[in-house]
Parts: sequence; C-alpha cells; structure tokens
Amino acid sequence: MIKIQIPATSANLGAGFDALGLALSFYNYIEMEESDTIDIASLDGLEVPRDDKNLVYISAKDLFNVCGKKITGLKIRQINNIPMARGLGSSSACIVAGLVGANTLLGNPLSNDDLVDLAAQIEGHPDNTAPALLGGIVTAVFDGQKVHWVKQEVYTKLKFAAIIPDFELKTEEARACLPKTIEHKDAVYNLSRAALFSASLLTGKFENLRTAVHDKLHQPYRMELIPNAREVFNIAYNHGAYGVYISGAGPTIMAIIDESNIYFSGKMKFSLDNAGLNGWQVHEFHIDNDGTKIIKK
Ligand code: HSE
Repeated sequence: MIKIQIPATSANLGAGFDALGLALSFYNYIEMEESDTIDIASLDGLEVPRDDKNLVYISAKDLFNVCGKKITGLKIRQINNIPMARGLGSSSACIVAGLVGANTLLGNPLSNDDLVDLAAQIEGHPDNTAPALLGGIVTAVFDGQKVHWVKQEVYTKLKFAAIIPDFELKTEEARACLPKTIEHKDAVYNLSRAALFSASLLTGKFENLRTAVHDKLHQPYRMELIPNAREVFNIAYNHGAYGVYISGAGPTIMAIIDESNIYFSGKMKFSLDNAGLNGWQVHEFHIDNDGTKIIKK
C-alpha cells in the first residue's frame, strides 16, 4: 500500500475569493493499492462512503479515465483528521489524495501541472486543491480548463489559529448566498486587498493584514450563515490577531497571529467560553510548504 499525506488548506484569505489559498500543517492520510473490488474503510472510526460515491475513489477513477486505463477497484484506507464542511479543505484533500494515489499507482503519467488542472476541474475552483497539492501560498486563476498558478513558500513567524465551530456549513449553501453581480467599486475594493494580502504576507508587512482581509464578495454574506461570527472576529482581534477572515466557505474563522503570541489559543478559548461560545475549538498551525507527499511506497 502507498501512503499519502495531504495538508488541510485555508482558501480565499479574505479578499482573494476563488484565487488565493495556503496549506496548513494539519493532515489527512490515505493508503491505497490496486484491487479487483472497491474496498474502502476509515481507520479512525469516521464514517466515509465505502462505495463508488467515495470522493477519493471518484477522483482516482477520473485519473484512470484520463489516462485511458480501466479501473477494477481500489483498496483505500482513510484517516480524516481535517473536519468535514468546516472550510479547511476536507473535500480537496480527498480529491488530491485520489489523484496523487492513482497517478503513483500508474507510474506517474500525469505531471504536477496536470494534477493541479484535473483537481480544479473536479472541485470547480483551484484555491483549495492547488495549495493542497503544492503547499505554500498559491495564487491561482482557473480558466475553466487550466490553472495558471504561482506557489510561493512562506517562512514567517506567523501562525494560523483555526477557530472551528461544532457545526458544518456546506460549500454549496455558502456559495448560494452570494450575489450574482457586484459594483465596480467593490471589485476594486477586493482586487486591491487580495494583492495586498500576498505582498504583505511575503514581505513581512503584517500590519497590512487587517486591511487586506476585508472583502465585499463573500464574507459579509457568509457572516449571516455563521452564528456569532462577528463576536469571534472581535475576540480574536482583542487577543492580538494581525488579521481575521472566514476560512474558505466557512464556518471556521482563521486568525493570523505572531509566533510570539504564545497564549493566543488559551486566551481565545477562555473568552469564547465566557461568551457562552463553548462549541468553538482553537487549533494553531503553521504554513506547510511541501504540499501532498507520498510518505510510504
Ligand atoms: N473559494 C471557495 C469558496 C472555497 O469560498 O466558495 C471553498 O471551496
């Protein structure tokens, strides 16, 4: 069995809706080998589809199809640490695992570029799938077929504190609430901030992040679907976050903090509990610069 490590991701980063994403030091693991039947199991007790509706299997099958190979089945074992439907790239991790696993089993017929394209075609947007594959912070434009991307490795003193609620928010619902059109000035508002975000992150101008994470494309609408989100934002800023944004489609709220802010999680949890928001957990991660890795062949 090959074993694959796939990072969680945080997409949008505020204003970079469907364009910016980064990989986090938090991982799912998938084992895979060729088989005559579909034999899927979860190794951590979490329920996953065990038939041909399983996203890892669907993605692996897509890659076999693209390469003109017939798939008879697969043995898949999953360890899903990344919580589902929380805005941390759990579906992208499944897609990327299926693609990288199948590509490895077939002897790597597809290049990394091909995998980035195929993953975005399956997911519909590249801002989770591309960083899950590549690591670092990824800027990506998906033209419907190809992804035009740049991966940048990030070596900063920043930590990303994921403030994760005990409820799910499906991406379809979080996309359905968005407006069909926006005003010209709002487009300018977003594109300037998205550009400011990566430039500031990469050059260490962290004081810009608070301005850079604001947007008019998705967060104001999604805020309404995440009970107490405003309060969580305020608490995180009160405890010294550089910037706070809705991770991906939510409902996780991400706080970017300095490595020297060593008591952030403890203070955050204390304040959340005091505010009656006991269902929210705080977990700190770094940026993962490696992306998906085969850790056993
Ligand atoms: N860019 C996507 C969104 C990420 O915000 O809907 C979630 O898949």
